Amino acid sequence: MTATDFRFHVEARDGAARVGNIRTGRGVIRTPAFMPVGTAATVKAVPPEAVRKAGADILLGNTYHLMLRPGAERVAGLGGLHKFMNWPHPILTDSGGFQVMSLASLRKITEEGVAFRSHHDGSAHAMSPERSIEIQRLLDSDIAMQLDECVALPASREETARAMQLSLRWARRSKAAFEASAPPPGRALFGIVQGGTEQDLRQESAQGLIEIGFPGYALGGLAVGEPQAVMFEVIAATTPHLPQERPRYLMGVGKPADIVGAVARGIDMFDCVIPTRSGRNGQAFTRQGAVNIRNAKYADEPRPLDDKCRCPACRDYSAAYIHHLVRSSEILGATLMTAHNLTYYQDLMAGLRTAIRRGQLAAFVADFETGAADY
Ligand code: GUN
Ligand code: ZN
Repeated sequence: MTATDFRFHVEARDGAARVGNIRTGRGVIRTPAFMPVGTAATVKAVPPEAVRKAGADILLGNTYHLMLRPGAERVAGLGGLHKFMNWPHPILTDSGGFQVMSLASLRKITEEGVAFRSHHDGSAHAMSPERSIEIQRLLDSDIAMQLDECVALPASREETARAMQLSLRWARRSKAAFEASAPPPGRALFGIVQGGTEQDLRQESAQGLIEIGFPGYALGGLAVGEPQAVMFEVIAATTPHLPQERPRYLMGVGKPADIVGAVARGIDMFDCVIPTRSGRNGQAFTRQGAVNIRNAKYADEPRPLDDKCRCPACRDYSAAYIHHLVRSSEILGATLMTAHNLTYYQDLMAGLRTAIRRGQLAAFVADFETGAADY
């Protein structure tokens, strides 16, 4: 074993929740972790230093977007994604399957993989489990994801089961391709549990992935339109079937309340466009809930967006100024709103970690719901 092996260490537990560390070849990820989304080799509107200052240990990048533009071979030629975007810390890349299904046109799924047309220019492309792994290696991702199929809702049980089984076969091929690619130490490939809202299919998926063996397990196919209570039930029914000593990643989630509830049910990692996308749109997350900075009530507000926040937007500017910037579609408005929301999300994760360490998660969750939580 070397100093740079990929390792997950649980430091404390509170009920189903855990606080821990993931050690990668490029640094440590404190869990529960929130990964800002840097789809196109940028967390939109903010430089990497701002993402780091907000408190992020890891970013998410997208295979689908980067293979189309600027191209994985080009990024590799320029020294890899970390160097390309000036983020020397860990990066997790999604495999592309989910983005193909949500963005590309003329998609055709076969046993081999998925054929599709680019949402940019209609050009034809193909993605197999092996090509997805090859692209993620070219990007030099720290945590790669298997290619999977996430069915669009509503889906029948038969369709959900078929996609789950296909994802399991792709998991096996992904692992073989990953191992054959001779990854440097400290890199990992995660499997993805599918199975919709059918608890037995989720269990079958988890069991199948565990038999293949992965250093981490993701829950896919959630936050796709189902009520929060349903998502929580699926998480609670799935995490007991995953190994305690492996990180669990809930893909594409979520709003602050979704994250708090999922952490309480045993999730360790999250990614979501909500803080960045909705920030550019004028939605700010605060300890008292989400607010819209475009609202007229902020036009004359000399106080910051959130007086408990340590971000540059709250430290140096009034809510009135940010209201003006966002209403005027000024670029700085998007930058400050993004920095604020990313800081809010990271402070929420830090608050969750502290609460778990103290064995006070239940009180934190109750206080979070009334806006009284201390983080
Ligand atoms: N992002 C959000 N949900 C999913 C999913 O089910 N699969 C993948 N690969 N990425 C996702
Ligand atoms: Zn702030």
